[in-house]
Amino acid sequence: MTKKIIISGIQPTGNLHIGNYLGAVKNFVDIQNQGDFDAMYIFIADLHSLTGGLTAKERHENIIKVTAEVLACGINPNKITLFAQSHVVGHTELGWIFDCVTPIAELERMTQFKDKSSRQEKNINAGLLTYPALMSADILMYHATHVPVGEDQIQHVELTRIIGKKFNTKFGKYFPETKVMLTKTARVMSLLEPNKKMSKSLGTGHVIELADEPKVIEGKIKKAVTATEGGGKAPGVENLLMLLNEFGDKKVYNEFSQSEKKGDIRYGDLKSAVSTAVGDYFKDFRERRKELLSNHDEIAEILMAGAEKAQAVADKTMDSVRRMVGIR
Ligand code: ADP
Ligand code: TRP
Repeated sequence: MTKKIIISGIQPTGNLHIGNYLGAVKNFVDIQNQGDFDAMYIFIADLHSLTGGLTAKERHENIIKVTAEVLACGINPNKITLFAQSHVVGHTELGWIFDCVTPIAELERMTQFKDKSSRQEKNINAGLLTYPALMSADILMYHATHVPVGEDQIQHVELTRIIGKKFNTKFGKYFPETKVMLTKTARVMSLLEPNKKMSKSLGTGHVIELADEPKVIEGKIKKAVTATEGGGKAPGVENLLMLLNEFGDKKVYNEFSQSEKKGDIRYGDLKSAVSTAVGDYFKDFRERRKELLSNHDEIAEILMAGAEKAQAVADKTMDSVRRMVGIR
């Protein structure tokens, strides 16, 4: 029987927001706690973040911050392997080998490539294009069969299957087929432009960070757009109701949901209910995060121990791969 091996990565591009949480991190924690796997890896995709515009200092700080945040969300390094991508030797080498079996046309049709290259016109670097080959290397290095990610990453996991097959056809069957594990809430929308997904790149007023204090959350939600464009259900209201359903009390959610259907919902009341729900939900998270960030050495140690475990697996894979492609 094939083993169930789970892997996912998260880029250290800034504080986690509730889109990252509902689309990715919450799922990691649930899967970890259910324990239905042979191995599970979560890593900080620091090499991937080089495709964007962070300064070295920002990247360095974010690696520690995001690690603290996933730990504060409930990731437990005793149950799974938590590491930083760049600490494990082999990811870039396997990424290069995958570059050499990946048709450029497959890379060029990736929505994220088109999207990011239009958003960072002055920095359309080659890494932005070849990014899915590195992501495939992250996944296949550990022979992962399941990848929990948000909707926007489905295409990359599908490409991982294509790349794995190309390798297997050319050099011999070695890599497994990988599937996406999608979350229930696949998409959280921006507060200010609810027709777009909530994303750090839109700006701080668009996102609720997990670390935001209740006052900040309240201020951001107050400004959330609830107006409809041309009749029908307002996407901003849908988004707020979804957040209330995720983070709040079921009874309160049902009341608002019914009054929305009847047409007598008061947006001001809905907004304060959502603010309270989100602020309360992340209270323990904020405390734990603060505590973790007061000891960077402990976080570095957790990452080092994780990298050591991951490296042992990566070494085996790279040993086989090097022989298969004829460089050893
Ligand atoms: P951002 O768009 O803010 O830069 P990332 O691209 O770093 O976020 O995403 C990290 C993870 O969070 C990915 O698995 C992604 O699918 C998920 N994710 C990001 N934004 C959202 C969102 N608005 N709704 C659901 N999932 C999201
Ligand atoms: N591409 C993912 C993102 O931007 C991060 C990532 C890199 C990843 N490598 C991965 C996710 C491997 C899952 C598996 O969110």
